Amino acid sequence: MTMPAILITGANGQLGNAFRALSVSFPHFRFFFLSSEDMDITEEKAIDLFFRSNRPDYCVNCAAYTAVDKAEGDAASAYRVNREGAALLAQACKRHASRFMHISTDYVFSGESAEPYREEDAADPKNIYGRSKLAGEITAAEYDPDCIIIRTAWVYSAHGSNFVKTMIRLMKERESVNVVNDQTGTPTYAADLAKACLSIIDGGKWAPGTYHYTNEGRATWYDFAVAIKQMTGADCNVNAIPSSAFPTMAKRPAFSLLDTRKIINAYAVSAPGWREALRRCLKEMNALKEA
Ligand SMILES: NC(=O)c1ccc[n+]([C@@H]2O[C@H](COP(=O)([O-])OP(=O)(O)OC[C@H]3O[C@@H](n4cnc5c(N)ncnc54)[C@H](OP(=O)(O)O)[C@@H]3O)[C@@H](O)[C@H]2O)c1
Repeated sequence: MTMPAILITGANGQLGNAFRALSVSFPHFRFFFLSSEDMDITEEKAIDLFFRSNRPDYCVNCAAYTAVDKAEGDAASAYRVNREGAALLAQACKRHASRFMHISTDYVFSGESAEPYREEDAADPKNIYGRSKLAGEITAAEYDPDCIIIRTAWVYSAHGSNFVKTMIRLMKERESVNVVNDQTGTPTYAADLAKACLSIIDGGKWAPGTYHYTNEGRATWYDFAVAIKQMTGADCNVNAIPSSAFPTMAKRPAFSLLDTRKIINAYAVSAPGWREALRRCLKEMNALKEA
């Protein structure tokens, strides 16, 4: 019997790299890790060629246009990757009887709630990135109603650029950093998200639909920065500021906590606390530095 094959798109991104690192713990799967150069998810022919030649049993779409502020001035590119790309992959999965797992975002929500968002809550994105990702969710589910969509939030990892790496650098360069304290969410370690996705695939139970996955707990970006300072022992003042003092191209939801009970109840995935996850990521970063 051949081993089930899993295609990971956007394999050079934070989440893609987390899947790559984790794949050694899942030796009973074959993995295809495709970067944007290996397979552009907006190119139908390339997708078709890959699916016809390799017949993956699963496709996890980690490819996305993730530059939230840049998207405000480049909606066409954001929609091309986040909507058209998702549509093409969903169509290919449907055509080739592959199971499609698509990753989405907390930014599909407006942030006006006071309660953690549940999967069935109305989406109302406030920026182009969020709108393009919501359009991707809708089109993916239209073309492949058997797909699983996993919304996550505030992703960071030892690879790529992210808030943790930026803070570590700024805390070395400056005596103080200003960080917004009026946006609440949950930092999510890409390694934990990848593990949750693979444990769903590995579990053999596939219940299509939308799910929320983040690490456990809540934080503002300021709380997150303070935790980074404490855990790295940085000698830098962290000042809390309102979002109004740090204008960005894209509006961001003030509150985007995701309720993760559905995915935990359905698949018993593990969602470690965000502080403990941050500690593990910092350890991984140190190990990479020493390697
Ligand atoms: N990062 C976050 O804070 C966050 C929060 C919530 C949800 N998410 C979602 O989580 C998923 C993974 O995000 P991430 O943090 O791993 O993002 P990332 O580090 O920016 O990685 C995205 C990857 O997608 C690739 N890509 C872009 N356009 C592509 C195309 N046309 N064809 C193939 N690959 C393409 C990029 O390749 P190039 O670098 O070569 O362009 C990059 O390697 C995404 O769906 C994202 O929307 C992320």
